[in-house]
Amino acid sequence: MTATEAVAGGEDELQRHFDATIDHDQRVEPRDWMPDGYRGTLVRQIAQHAHSEIIGMQPEANWITRAPSLRRKAILLAKVQDEAGHGLYLYSATETLGVDRTDLTDKLVEGRQKYSSIFNYPTLNFADIGVIGWLVDGAAIVNQVPLCRCSYGPYARAMIRVCKEESFHQRQGYELLLTMMSGTDEQRRMVQDATDRWWWPSLMMFGPPDGDSPNTRQSMAWGIKRHTNDELRQKFVDMTVPQAETLGVTLPDPGLAWNSERGHHDFGEPDWDEFKRVLHGNGPCNAQRVERRRAAREDGQWVRDAAAAYAAKQADRERGAAV
Ligand SMILES: [Fe+2]
Ligand SMILES: [Fe+2]
Repeated sequence: MTATEAVAGGEDELQRHFDATIDHDQRVEPRDWMPDGYRGTLVRQIAQHAHSEIIGMQPEANWITRAPSLRRKAILLAKVQDEAGHGLYLYSATETLGVDRTDLTDKLVEGRQKYSSIFNYPTLNFADIGVIGWLVDGAAIVNQVPLCRCSYGPYARAMIRVCKEESFHQRQGYELLLTMMSGTDEQRRMVQDATDRWWWPSLMMFGPPDGDSPNTRQSMAWGIKRHTNDELRQKFVDMTVPQAETLGVTLPDPGLAWNSERGHHDFGEPDWDEFKRVLHGNGPCNAQRVERRRAAREDGQWVRDAAAAYAAKQADRERGAAV
């Protein structure tokens, strides 16, 4: 039922229809009526996701000009371009909810909308590129695969393609690390150092502990979220431990151990104060990331102006041809 069809039925009937769609695990589409809270939650979450893809290009782009070989440069370029594509699909998904990407970018550069805290850490050497692919894209996959079943159709469909590309990102990172681990002692030290720096921030990518995540219950009831933050974090740890063993690196957590009773790994608590600090703008690279995004937006203004002028000219020509 579309919003216009149901106007006569009133708000109660619209709500009942929406609830039934969610209960039957069907998709909500842009033309459908949806509660304001559902729409607002999706706009916030998808915008935050889109911003993360775009800001996330910066730490890796930092190494494109210094990649150690043509092969590594081509891989890294392809990956960073994929992230731009992810941002664009996601901004398009937000626009199906009635918002404008220009406004969302305003909110990002004015600090009124967030992006993933992970991208506020610096990339200090080329092993960071491998570790980001392995851990950061690996965590993104664990977060995003369940979103392919999100109740909002455009978001779920965008996620299917995004996840396929994330899987390439994870593999290229792991393959780079395997190569470095079979290299020199210095290269192995670089991989271990990068793992030490990225491990805890990667665990923070799943968000605060369930007890501290007030929106999770509602998001799960709406079928936006399918698992809690702690469930996803556990899944990531269980998946990553054997990969670390194969690589020959040590994960920097003395509390990490297999718990045969639970059938899962036990692991230590991330530093949630650090998480909050970084999320609230005080991480090592927050100011630099937002400033760079703002500058890129200003530098690109002439392209948007030219595209708009071209579109207006085309429309004029078509009008002329129609007369
Ligand atoms: Fe991505
Ligand atoms: Fe990625």
